[in-house]
Amino acid sequence: PSATLDVDVAHTTSAVNDYQFGHIVEDINHSVEGGLSANVVRNSTMKENGNANPPSHWSAVGGGTISGDDATPLNPANARSLRIDVTDDDPAQRAGAANSGFYGIGVRPNTAYQVSFWARASAGLTGPLTLSLESTAGAVHAETTVTGVAPEWREFTATLNTGASAPVSTDNRFVVTTTGHNAGKSVWLNVVRVLGPTFAPTGGIRKDLQQKLADTKPGFIRVPGGNYLEGVVLENRFKWKETIGKVEDRPGHQNDAWGYWSTDQFGLLSYLEMAEQAGAEPILGVFAGYTLNGQAVPQDQLAPYVQEALDQIEYVIGDVSTPWGAKRAEDGHPEPFPLKYVEIGNEDWFDPTPSYNTYRYPMFYDAIKARYPHLQIIASMGVTSRPMDVIDDHYYNGNPDAFAALGSRYDSADRNGPKVLVGEYGVTNGSGSNPTGTLSGALAEAVFLAGTVRNSDVVLGSAYAPALTSVDKWQWSSNMIGFNAVSSYGSPSYHVVKMFGEGTGDHVVPSTLTGTKLDQVATREADGTVYLTVVNRHAAPVETQVNVKGARTVGSKAAVKTLTGDPNARNSITAPDTVAPTESQVKAGRSFVHTFPANSMTVLTLTTK
Ligand code: AHR
Repeated sequence: PSATLDVDVAHTTSAVNDYQFGHIVEDINHSVEGGLSANVVRNSTMKENGNANPPSHWSAVGGGTISGDDATPLNPANARSLRIDVTDDDPAQRAGAANSGFYGIGVRPNTAYQVSFWARASAGLTGPLTLSLESTAGAVHAETTVTGVAPEWREFTATLNTGASAPVSTDNRFVVTTTGHNAGKSVWLNVVRVLGPTFAPTGGIRKDLQQKLADTKPGFIRVPGGNYLEGVVLENRFKWKETIGKVEDRPGHQNDAWGYWSTDQFGLLSYLEMAEQAGAEPILGVFAGYTLNGQAVPQDQLAPYVQEALDQIEYVIGDVSTPWGAKRAEDGHPEPFPLKYVEIGNEDWFDPTPSYNTYRYPMFYDAIKARYPHLQIIASMGVTSRPMDVIDDHYYNGNPDAFAALGSRYDSADRNGPKVLVGEYGVTNGSGSNPTGTLSGALAEAVFLAGTVRNSDVVLGSAYAPALTSVDKWQWSSNMIGFNAVSSYGSPSYHVVKMFGEGTGDHVVPSTLTGTKLDQVATREADGTVYLTVVNRHAAPVETQVNVKGARTVGSKAAVKTLTGDPNARNSITAPDTVAPTESQVKAGRSFVHTFPANSMTVLTLTTK
């Protein structure tokens, strides 16, 4: 063997944190609008592209024309509706509108789609409204009708069920039509939603994406971002109060950080429920008075934003006797959420002025600590004006070698300083046509993560960023999970995170590697399960002598999970498993030889007593 791995399972160096592995979710790359949000209708409220007329992503069907109409508002938040004017009086001819979804609409066989919308019509409209999911070529995969559309606004709900023969496909649209002698009559639609499969009954969270997040066994989800939280200008920051309550009352906003419209139908409560349903706790980001255009709110105008943050925290953790806790209960979640960490702002080092240190961080810190002394405060950059419980470090690098060098980043960190949240990290080596990175990048990230676990007394946790991307439209080159309208895949980086999430014990045990350079961390559970995680970035396999000290017995077999392949390989929506872990069993014991394949991450699971 050219390397030796010595592990001492009788001792521990530090506890692995409950938050050691987690995610950041913000609305970038359609992660949320057109992603986690299970609503497959795009431009649900007709406001995209500056109230484009006719509304974007809608088209006329059959004997009708469409336009955006503000004349009879549904409500002040959503005044503009889709107007369908029926021009054809042929009762055999349908007239209506179609929505093309987010780069198509995903259809699967034997699947239920929950439809809801608000509608009104000219007096005397005859016939029901027909709702369908159909291919762009016109094959109907699911159809139903609703009756009773009248001159007053009313909400309608229906279920569209696809049959066994519906193909797994994206080239579909959602169609609303009327038939009958209706020439000269009109139908108005607003807040049109079609929810595909959701992970749970609440939250409206797309099933396959939430499942992938949950499968990594995250300890936390940092919400809601990222630049998305900040906005480019004040008006377009994440105004959480406009993202709660009934969906029809949410005005939505231009997500100017990432360049598309957000209906805010996936609002603050959905972000919190996403964490809850993934078995994680939220790390709450609060807007800290800085926007991406480089403007900081002046000190004498900051107090309302501090209050907004206090209210937000109350919405998350207040009991039902508090005003915002009561609002959360009214919104369907009486139980407060668990919350230990609040992050003030995001990447405030971009602020060209020292305002974060001089007054913004202090004002938020003082107010939050006064009201909620038990909460830990995360600073988005180094400050001296107040204590930092935790500092949020971000690491992006396109070069895997440079990124792997971060594996020792925290080895000599000040043990008396603040804890570190690596709130964002990633090797940014997605290709121009594929928004997810290579195995080589993922292995460099694995080296880094091994270092964060070895230093779990300092590093509270880490999150790859961004977590999600549409493969049809993205703003960030390299992301963890890719999806289209109907399916999704994990990148090599995703598999690395999942292998750490599944295969890390609750305490770090001492380990040393000598000989050929490999990177490793060893952890164990109270029941004696020991995880040896080893990263081999070499282009050749490394035969390694493994010596396990400190156990009375070590099982003669170990489960082994290995991620390996062409270092330049990446997964894609059409080839999702090019790089995927394999599982087997190998000989083990107090002393055994294991060959770590070229370009690999391996988790060996030993049973010890
Ligand atoms: O993860 C993408 C972006 O990178 C985040 O929004 C921001 O915090 C960072 O600059």
